[in-house]
Amino acid sequence: MRKTVRDIIAMKHAGKSIAMLTAYDASMASLVHKGGADLILVGDSLGMVVLGYDSTVPVTMEDMIHHTAAARRGAPDALIVADVPYGSYLVSESESVANGFRLMKETGCDAIKLEGGEVVCPTVRRLVDAGIPVMGHLGLTPQTAGALGGFKVQGKDLESARKLLSDAHALVEAGVFAIVLECVPAELARIISESIQVPTIGIGAGDGCDGQVLVINDMLGLFEKFVPKFVKQYANLAPQIVEGIQNYVEDVHNGRFPEKEHQFGGDCDYQELLK
Ligand code: KIV
Repeated sequence: MRKTVRDIIAMKHAGKSIAMLTAYDASMASLVHKGGADLILVGDSLGMVVLGYDSTVPVTMEDMIHHTAAARRGAPDALIVADVPYGSYLVSESESVANGFRLMKETGCDAIKLEGGEVVCPTVRRLVDAGIPVMGHLGLTPQTAGALGGFKVQGKDLESARKLLSDAHALVEAGVFAIVLECVPAELARIISESIQVPTIGIGAGDGCDGQVLVINDMLGLFEKFVPKFVKQYANLAPQIVEGIQNYVEDVHNGRFPEKEHQFGGDCDYQELLK
């Protein structure tokens, strides 16, 4: 049976750590669900690891709808969260709610995620009041990494740590069911996690979070441009993929593929066609 956001909250209170992974298409979502992930995030990291952009900023609503709908088709029983892309919330609350509804209706996702603290709280409240489960995202918020001075650890001094703590409380007050904490010192993440009633899901935020998330392409060694410090690679698939492709190309070039077993026969004598 498909988990619900209430099940995710209950995991925190039962002391069970939550495992989230990203997926952006049907095959990977199916594998991530088979592997037992508690929830799947169709993150706007899509922009960097699938679409080839340098940041998540260019990702559109259409991109998110296309890929989230594919993930849903691949994993019909998974709890799926879809990122709301940059510029698709905060313009106005009504537009944000309209985009939230679009993601829910056109993809079949169970919840949406948006980045930011106090500034997004009125929007979060409107979305939650409209019946859309919302996940928050604090710390390093990739959509606004430029304004944060780049892809850097956040909350390193007391002033910014206080702001993160108060943002977390504001998001909970606004109704989020969970908060992603990205690139935050471990001790601060633990303090935030212990002071709120909804789960924190960390990425580069240490072992004091209520759960963890990784970008699937990073943890499987599929993304070769760079490997962030917080990533543990559970497989290194890129070299295996390249080797498989090299073998295929060599086989085709040398006439070794396809073999008999990969070919179809018919029910007539095709030589007749040549007479
Ligand atoms: O877009 C994404 O994949 C994310 C994770 C890094 C949490 O937001």
